[in-house]
Amino acid sequence: MNALSLAIFAVLALAVTASLQNVTVKGIAVCDKKRMHNVRVQLFDRDTLDPNDLLSEIHTNHNGEFELFGEEDERGWIEPFLRVSHNCHAKPNCARIGEYEVPRSAIGDVYDMTYLTLDIVVSGEKEQC
Ligand SMILES: *[C@@H]1O[C@H](CO)[C@@H](O)[C@H](O)[C@H]1NC(C)=O
Repeated sequence: MNALSLAIFAVLALAVTASLQNVTVKGIAVCDKKRMHNVRVQLFDRDTLDPNDLLSEIHTNHNGEFELFGEEDERGWIEPFLRVSHNCHAKPNCARIGEYEVPRSAIGDVYDMTYLTLDIVVSGEKEQC
């Protein structure tokens, strides 16, 4: 390798080096305009090749509030999303599982979802009975 190709190689290697990224996601789960406690909220990083990584998990408190922090080493951007499992308008003994994307602009920052209205059915929602 000559000096130029070595330099190019070094730049490319740097470009694909993983960097530690984080995100904080918070909000308040509501159902029928009431705050919903004990809702399971999980923060994942979507991986195209590997299974998604669970970064953090919490249950909403008595006021329906949740706040999650996650960080991960990733090449390019992390692709965080929330998975929320709840029984707001679910069939008896079933859970509704909805996923919510975290915008890229929130990476390295706080994503405040304010009210997470669980009455609303999100696309791709699943049911677990
Ligand atoms: C999260 O990432 C941002 C941007 O890289 C950084 O400034 C901040 O210190 C990180 N926060 C924590 C708690 O690691």
